[in-house]
Amino acid sequence: MLVTGGAGFIGSNFVHHVLDHTDDTITVLDAMTYAGNAASLEGLPTERFRLVKGSVCDAALVDELVAAHDITVHFAAESHNDNSLNDPSPFVQTNIVGTYELLQAVRRHEKRYHHISTDEVYGDLELDDPERFTENTPYNPSSPYSSTKAGSDLLVRAWVRSFGVQATLSNCSNNYGPRQHVEKFIPRQITNVIDGIRPKLYGTGENVRDWIHVDDHNAAVLRILEAGRIGETYLIGADGEKNNLEVIELILTLMGQPSNAYDHVNDRPGHDMRYAIDSTKLRTELGWAPRFSDFESGLSDTIEWYRSNEDWWRPMKQATEAKYAKTGQ
Ligand code: NAD
Ligand code: DAU
Repeated sequence: MLVTGGAGFIGSNFVHHVLDHTDDTITVLDAMTYAGNAASLEGLPTERFRLVKGSVCDAALVDELVAAHDITVHFAAESHNDNSLNDPSPFVQTNIVGTYELLQAVRRHEKRYHHISTDEVYGDLELDDPERFTENTPYNPSSPYSSTKAGSDLLVRAWVRSFGVQATLSNCSNNYGPRQHVEKFIPRQITNVIDGIRPKLYGTGENVRDWIHVDDHNAAVLRILEAGRIGETYLIGADGEKNNLEVIELILTLMGQPSNAYDHVNDRPGHDMRYAIDSTKLRTELGWAPRFSDFESGLSDTIEWYRSNEDWWRPMKQATEAKYAKTGQ
């Protein structure tokens, strides 16, 4: 298997998951941007795993690697909304051009391809909307990040229809778990509390995200690789809707702090209000179900992971907070 972006949060957890649960061998292609962390791949069996440093925008390298593997699973992306508001350029390059290069290579070599995407391509829902996102929800992305992910999804769909590429797609909601960069909401607050800094809540904190444990996401991806129908999209979600205020209060409580010991900071421009996934298709067609149904216990394990792995996140903390300080967040 070729796994792009395998040194990032979800990709590295996927590599661990596949090596633990199958006999497959894996090559990771990762540009090792600020979000790639070699420490996330330490200790893996060298006879079944290797890391190639390079970009998915490098057509020659992509061609060579795709040709040498049976399946490509494409996680690599610029993934953070706030960064996309400060500088959209790498999002267009990696998310759109990088996906194009992979699609051309899998087309040339007639290889199986799975495309990892996000629920953010559907835009957002009102807080009181009874509907959730399904595979038939129209695309309506809000940010430079989500619009480039939407663009990449549409390229995949076009390459399936026009060129018969053997691809599947999945769109997942917000992941949490070990090895997530400290720029993201949950690890940022956990590491803030460890450092004696008050957690930072954007705007009023009413915004809702539909949380899923990263291992549940990756188990769903493996299931789609085994049994997903070519050309199909599967939404991945675990019925985990929570507003940001609830999550911050829970983190503070689990870490032994007063639940109101957080600060309101500047809101994100264009901030999506609510995401919510209906994963009926994945559950009924492929028999997938989440294992981490208790958010509080999954969050508690995640807090423990950050407490025990300070060496992993400490090198990126200061630069991340310096970036947020510039936007008053
Ligand atoms: P991440 O930012 O933690 O990791 C991204 C990885 O891609 C990093 O290792 C980085 O070095 C690598 N990368 C960036 N540009 C590259 C390039 N040009 N060539 C090769 N590698 C490059 O991201 P993540 O949170 O693990 O997200 C992985 C994928 O899952 C993304 O496609 C994202 O859109 C999608 N997704 C994320 C979530 C979430 O909650 N984090 C939810 C749904 C979907
Ligand atoms: O829905 C899937 C998406 O989830 C993925 O496609 C993205 O790659 C991933 O980054 C995530 O996007 P979000 O923008 O929802 O995640 P983020 O962790 O940046 O923020 C989660 C919520 O918390 C959001 O409403 C903004 C808010 N927030 C974030 C930070 C960093 C805060 O209130 N304070 C913060 O300090």
